Amino acid sequence: MAKKVVDNVGSFYQHYPRIALIVTASYGGKENAMTIAWHMPMSKDPPLIAFVTGTSHFTYKLIKQSGEFAINLLPETHAEIVAAIGGSKGETCDKFATYGIAREKSLKTSAPILADAYAAFECKVVEEKIYDGHSMITGEVVATHIQEGCIWDDGTVNMEKVIPVLYMGSEQYLNIEQANVRTLKRDIYARELKL
Ligand SMILES: Cc1cc2nc3c(=O)[nH]c(=O)nc-3n(C[C@H](O)[C@H](O)[C@H](O)COP(=O)(O)O)c2cc1C
Repeated sequence: MAKKVVDNVGSFYQHYPRIALIVTASYGGKENAMTIAWHMPMSKDPPLIAFVTGTSHFTYKLIKQSGEFAINLLPETHAEIVAAIGGSKGETCDKFATYGIAREKSLKTSAPILADAYAAFECKVVEEKIYDGHSMITGEVVATHIQEGCIWDDGTVNMEKVIPVLYMGSEQYLNIEQANVRTLKRDIYARELKL
């Protein structure tokens, strides 16, 4: 197949799909949540997770002041809430009240935990790097909340209980309920695919 090669980043630089999750934070009696698709685990020991946020966002300001945040993974059944949280501004709207989003107490941080999240990580900020209006924030996980039965012992999602929110970009969400999950053992394929 022919390839188009260009000397700039092009429209696919975000290379979706990605899981859309909710970052929460609170400071001085104010709580907020924003949707994030740009995120990644960084290391297991120490347990680090990073994400990228625009520096104008209200959630970013709360994180800067508190030094804490939580990562919340909502199920696909809540994709509309994920879109709404990403389409509203905490500076002018109490998203929790407006969209009826229930919270639970966190264990070690001030960041709210979403009651419907199948997994949530409380984090303390350990590093920040600014890239022209965007900030990459790295946090150390200090507490983890997992809904019973949703995550297998090997750290994979139990898809019979919960489907992640997969964001395709351009306001499109992929429902992978009927998807065919394939186990591709990396050592086997590293060996078997050799010519
Ligand atoms: C699916 C989805 C993914 C998003 N991913 C990001 C992201 O990775 N980083 C970012 O800065 N904003 C992202 N946004 C936009 C923010 O969630 C949005 O600007 C939000 O209103 C910020 O809220 P706040 O100002 O109340 O903090 C995303 C929005 C959606 C709907």
